[in-house]
Amino acid sequence: MSRVALIGGTGALGLVPDDVREKRRMDTPYGPPSGPVMHWMQGDTELLFLPRHGSGVTIPPHCVNYQANIWALHELEPDWVLGINAVGGIHAAATPGRLVFPDQLIDYTWGRAHSFVDAMDVPVRHVDFTLPISAALHERLATTARQLALDFMPSGVYGVTQGPRLESAAEIDRLERDGCDVVGMTAMPEAGLARELGLDYAICAVVVNFAAGRGSGGDIHAEIEASMEQGMRQVATLLPALLPH
Ligand code: HPA
Repeated sequence: MSRVALIGGTGALGLVPDDVREKRRMDTPYGPPSGPVMHWMQGDTELLFLPRHGSGVTIPPHCVNYQANIWALHELEPDWVLGINAVGGIHAAATPGRLVFPDQLIDYTWGRAHSFVDAMDVPVRHVDFTLPISAALHERLATTARQLALDFMPSGVYGVTQGPRLESAAEIDRLERDGCDVVGMTAMPEAGLARELGLDYAICAVVVNFAAGRGSGGDIHAEIEASMEQGMRQVATLLPALLPH
């Protein structure tokens, strides 16, 4: 039997089937994760779903206990972990509703507990983060999305900002100069912590708005709502096809 973990961001709770009752409350040396881990079977695969922002979506990106979330999932020994993250599009091809599978990250966050190497009595260890995303899982995402003819960008650089506010137009210009294609608030320290624990981790980002200063500048919240629905429908199509058959 295989086991796959999803860390669902805003809008992703809809991926959990309505009849799922199994919820596992966990605790870790870093405190409890954002919420109980829901789990269900799909064919031969056990799916685990951890709501990144809590079951009631009340934990903002800078307050998420990323250490507890990653530790808890690591304890459940998944074969791989997929983060599902809402992002703003910077690159002209990163349009709302489209999926992006980032292969690189730039971390602009600050003040978050970003490592398990965080106490004086823990041996110092520098994990290799040249490729922050599991190459094999990234390849699987892109190949499967291509087979399903989904609307997606196969790679890109995800700039991770602190939030919870959105960025200024000048901040987005700077991120673009740095090479960022999309911007979101949650991929770090999640990806770094996953690497420290040796988890196979990749990201399926859903573009829900044009980043600040891009697009036509309409009502951003209406844009987010409409694109989230469209993007999540694509994620719901992608997920079952990703699982081992
Ligand atoms: N900026 C940062 N995070 C986001 C955005 C954005 O425009 N959209 C969704 N998450």
